[in-house]
Amino acid sequence: MYEVEIKRMDHEGRGIGYIENKVTFLSNALQNEIVLCEILEEKKNYNIAKVIEYKQKSPKRRVPFCPFYEQCGGCHLEHMSYEDTLKYKKEKVENILKKEKIQHPKIETIENALQKNYRNKLSLKIKEGRIGFYQKKTNILIEIKECALARGCINQCLEKIRKLGIKNGYLTIRANYNEEILLVIETKEQVKFKEEEWKDQKVVGVIVNNKTIYGNNFFYERMNGFLFKVSYDAFFQINPYIANKLFSLIEENIEEKSIVLDLYAGVGTLGIVASKKASKVYSLEIIKNAILDNLENKKLNKRENIYPMLGEVEKNLPKIKDNFDTIIIDPPRKGLDKNSRNLIGKSKVKKVIYISCDPLTLARDLKELINHYEIKKFIILDMFSYTYHVESFCLLERR
Ligand SMILES: C[S@@+](CC[C@H](N)C(=O)[O-])C[C@H]1O[C@@H](n2cnc3c(N)ncnc32)[C@H](O)[C@@H]1O
Repeated sequence: MYEVEIKRMDHEGRGIGYIENKVTFLSNALQNEIVLCEILEEKKNYNIAKVIEYKQKSPKRRVPFCPFYEQCGGCHLEHMSYEDTLKYKKEKVENILKKEKIQHPKIETIENALQKNYRNKLSLKIKEGRIGFYQKKTNILIEIKECALARGCINQCLEKIRKLGIKNGYLTIRANYNEEILLVIETKEQVKFKEEEWKDQKVVGVIVNNKTIYGNNFFYERMNGFLFKVSYDAFFQINPYIANKLFSLIEENIEEKSIVLDLYAGVGTLGIVASKKASKVYSLEIIKNAILDNLENKKLNKRENIYPMLGEVEKNLPKIKDNFDTIIIDPPRKGLDKNSRNLIGKSKVKKVIYISCDPLTLARDLKELINHYEIKKFIILDMFSYTYHVESFCLLERR
């Protein structure tokens, strides 16, 4: 056992201390705490250790609200107050930007109104009839009865999942504004879905290995006065309250009569919001069902000025020829590829709205984009409360 003083926090919400001068990462450890720990993994340049006992606790320490917190690994910051999680996220982003020497305006934060039970999607593993999450970076399944971050109607489903008779597989539960549920399952086994067993819930679709065995393979989502069809395999923002705020930011920052390119468009949400003010919106997305949803959403919301395109950004951006005024970029965690960064940098596009769910790849991309653009707004949206993940909204204007 080793005694370690926590010197600072890392980007994954872990405490950092030293064992014989070797950097050591510890989950559930706060700055200035002194802990007794044991090493779980010894790597060449660092250790991963587990706290066994707190010899000196931080006055900032809070009791986690979830009984599965210590094992599960889905949340990382429940041992902090909500205010401190926001402070931590802001400092994390500031440090990442500072390291890359990226000049930026003061970072604002939009808080999450519902800090718990906010997630409208939960992805679980089923192993030998047990349902839960894999412990971080392991194959060890931590069985859960409910998730403190998921909406109540999703947790209500968890009680009944065993009745589906699945021993091994993956399950995603999605819920919309009206508590309608899509169950998306991957398994080699026979799934027994009996409507009468789910009477107390509004299950609108059960999809097994991409085939619909009950209801539909989509639901409708309502947000900021818009209606969106969302297929079972299409992306939708996981936090409705924060998504609402994001939509408002998009609307505020789009110029009247501008021409907009919406990259990584999903079912077309941000483009549809932008199309209220823009004269034309072109959107590009890789998932076929999402693009089909976008075409449907265009009609549902009576928008004539949207042009959805199916394809990869990497391959298709070089082929798109139009003089865009604004590009919206909302990529997955990996961010932009090098060629797309270059193309956007060298384009004549006046405004870039970059929405990112990973500040590390955002900073990598901004480092190049700031040769051509100035960052005018930087806003953290607390989309993923009590986890170390950060959603950022960044407005760039051509220099
Ligand atoms: C973070 S989501 C954003 C979706 C949408 N902007 C929204 O707010 O609902 C990222 C989207 O990028 C899509 N995507 C991932 N890789 C892609 C690629 N290489 N080219 C185009 N789209 C991609 C995903 O399918 C997903 O819909």
